Amino acid sequence: MTGVRKKAFRASFWHCLGDPGNSIESDAAEFFEDGLLLVEDGKVSAIGPADKLLAGLSSDFELIDRSGSLIVPGFIDTHVHYPQTDMIAAYGSKLLDWLQCYAYPTERAFGDPEHAADVADFFVKELLRNGTTTALVFATVHPTSVDAIFTAALRENMRVLSGKVLMDRNCPADLRDDALTAYNDSKLLLERWHGRGRLGYAITPRFAATSTDDQLAAAGRLASEYPDSYVHTHVAENRDEVELVAKMFPQSRSYLGVYDQHGLVRERSVFAHCLHLDESDRQCMSRKGAAMSFCPSSNLFLGSGLFNLELAEQHGVRVGLGTDVGAGTSFGMLNTMSEAYKVLHLEHQPMSPVKALYLATLGGARALYLDDRVGNFEAGKDADFVVLNRAATPLLERRLAMTENVADTFFVLMMLGDDRSVDATYLMGELAHEANHA
Ligand code: GUN
Ligand code: ZN
Repeated sequence: MTGVRKKAFRASFWHCLGDPGNSIESDAAEFFEDGLLLVEDGKVSAIGPADKLLAGLSSDFELIDRSGSLIVPGFIDTHVHYPQTDMIAAYGSKLLDWLQCYAYPTERAFGDPEHAADVADFFVKELLRNGTTTALVFATVHPTSVDAIFTAALRENMRVLSGKVLMDRNCPADLRDDALTAYNDSKLLLERWHGRGRLGYAITPRFAATSTDDQLAAAGRLASEYPDSYVHTHVAENRDEVELVAKMFPQSRSYLGVYDQHGLVRERSVFAHCLHLDESDRQCMSRKGAAMSFCPSSNLFLGSGLFNLELAEQHGVRVGLGTDVGAGTSFGMLNTMSEAYKVLHLEHQPMSPVKALYLATLGGARALYLDDRVGNFEAGKDADFVVLNRAATPLLERRLAMTENVADTFFVLMMLGDDRSVDATYLMGELAHEANHA
C-alpha cells in the first residue's frame, strides 16, 4: 500500500494572492519570514508561520529544511521558442531579417527526431535551472519537434503548452506546410498530447505574415472544435512587420483583426509582443479574454519597441511575461523581470517588485487560464516552486545584507540575480533541479 506523500518545507515564502496593481506595499502578497509549506501528493495543503504549523504537524510529514532561502512560486514563461536555443544571442538584425538569417535556418534541423530530442532535453533542463516550472513554447513546423518537447516535459512532469508551427507562405520552402496538413497534423498532435500529464496543446500559427487566409481559417476551425486548447502566435512586434501584414491583408482593420476574423482571438489565445496595437485592438483582446505576453529582453534585443503595461491594464487585458528565447537574451525570468522594469521605467511606469513577482507567477497563470492550478501557494494548487539563494555571489550576499524587507530583497535578486540564484526548483513537491555548488 502506498500512502500519501507528505512533505513540509521550511523557509521564507512570498507569493501573490491577487494583482497588486500599482501599489508598492500590497496586501495582494503574503510573506512568511519563517514559514512552512505543506505538500500532500504534489499539491499544496497549507502555508503559514512555521511555529504555528509545526505545532500541529503529524509525524508522517517529511521535513525539508530550506531555512535561509526565499521560496516563491515557480516562474511562468508565457512565450519561448525551444528550437531557438542554439541561436540565442545572434548579432545584428531586426525581426524580419533575423528570421531569415538565424531563426529559419536553425529550425530546419527539427525534422530530425534525435536533434529535436537533444535540444528539447537541454531546453527543459535550462528552464528548470532558471526556476521556470510552466511554459508556453513554440516548436517548429515539424510534428517531430512537438513530440520531442512534450516527451521531455512529460519526463520531468513539467507543465508545458506547445504545438506545431503553422506556416504556408513567405518562408523557406522546406519549412512550409499547407492549410490541410497544418489542420490534420495539429489535430493529431492535439489528440495525442493535450491533457496528458500536465501538458496542453497550443494551435500555433507563426504570425499572420507566414500564413494564408486558408491556413488561418483552418487554425480557427480547430480552435473552435477544441475550446480548451490554446492559440499561440505573435502580433504587432515590429513596425516593418506591421506594414507587411497590412499589405498582405488589406481588408483587415488591423494586424490583430486578421486573427480575429478567423476566430483566433479568444480565451486561451496568447499573443506575444503586442507593441504596436491601438485602442480597438486592446478592447478586442479584453472583450475576448485573450492574453498578451510581454517579452522585454526580446523587444530590446531586436529593437522592436516598448510594451505599454499601463494601457493593457487600463483595458483589463491579461498579461504575462515571456523570455522569447532566442530573440530574448535570457532563459531566466529573474532577468526578464529586470528588463521589464527598465522598459517600463522608460515609459514612466515603474514596476514594483511585488508587481514583477505577480507578472512572473500568478499573472502568467491568469494569462494562461491556469490560475486554478498554479501561480501561488493556495491550497489545492500544484506545489511548483523556486528556492532562491540569498548569497549566490559575493555581490549578492553583500547587497542583500543591506535589504530590510522581502520586496527589496526580491528586487535585488531580479536586478542582480540569474540562474546562480536558483538553488533548487520543485515540481509538484519533487526536486527537479538542484544547483551544484561544488
Ligand atoms: N515573429 C514570427 N516568428 C518569430 C520568432 O521566431 N521570434 C520573434 N521574436 N518574433 C517572431
Ligand atoms: Zn517569439
